[in-house]
Amino acid sequence: MKHLIDSTDLSVEEIDNILNLAQNIIDNKENYSDVCKGKKLATLFFEPSTRTRLSFEAAMMELGGNVLGFSSADSSSATKGESVGDTIRVVGCYADIIAMRHPKEGAPMFGAMVSSVPIINAGDGGHNHPTQTLTDLLTIKREKGRLDNFTIGLCGDLKFGRTVHSLIKALSRYENIKYVLISPKELKVPDYIITEVFEKNNIEYREVSTMEEVMEELDIIYMTRVQKERFFNEADYVRLKDTYILDETKLKYAKKDLSILHPLPRVNEISTKVDDDPRACYFRQALNGKYVRMALIITLLEHAGRE
Ligand code: NCD
Repeated sequence: MKHLIDSTDLSVEEIDNILNLAQNIIDNKENYSDVCKGKKLATLFFEPSTRTRLSFEAAMMELGGNVLGFSSADSSSATKGESVGDTIRVVGCYADIIAMRHPKEGAPMFGAMVSSVPIINAGDGGHNHPTQTLTDLLTIKREKGRLDNFTIGLCGDLKFGRTVHSLIKALSRYENIKYVLISPKELKVPDYIITEVFEKNNIEYREVSTMEEVMEELDIIYMTRVQKERFFNEADYVRLKDTYILDETKLKYAKKDLSILHPLPRVNEISTKVDDDPRACYFRQALNGKYVRMALIITLLEHAGRE
């Protein structure tokens, strides 16, 4: 494992190792405070981010390493017309590992092809977001104690939501997970997820259009924001943005041990009144993101050191 571009670049065993390492970091933080001493992480963010970029930077700092980078394409040489490939080659002269977010699908994969240092995809367009998936998996494991045998509802923008695509692909390797896909017809999961993931692997899934009809069955609900920046048409966004709002009324029908996940940022899709419900996991999930990124940085740097 040299780079992390897609959530299925990692085998189930590699995922288990990263999640176990993340849990070990949580339990023994002091043992990790200088394992990346002298190493540098570059965060190249051509698209906005709060959690992903800052959790990567906090992760590297807590490992005793340093960080450099940019947080918008406007402040990089991309505005002068530099290609992603050239940017990656140059940054590889200054940093030991690169986390990169880009609006174009495939840009991190292209970067990895020319890179001398490990590349981590921190989100590429509406395609993939593998480190959010590691965050989600660690959260499910910590909340539920397992990564198999549950029913998960994925709700909202399943078309453009890259976190959903990466999570479904990663979870498809675990046993006995049932998927309920909750979206308006305009925002259904892309066809390749249905054919290449669900149908190819004989996985049980259902597509529905309301939360109410499935709430009582769910062990996990994964809420998502309607991805405004990926719409071609403002009117469609306005029409669809508030299709689903998880609130106390809907939660009355839910299981007592439901886990409510959201990659964040939240817009309106979860009422703030839900935040104090013990079933709301999304802020714990954001914290898990830092630990899992610490584990990933250690793993990729160790691998690069052995080559
Ligand atoms: C997600 C993303 O960037 O895809 N955010 C994140 O990294 N936590 C989800 C989103 O933007 O809706």
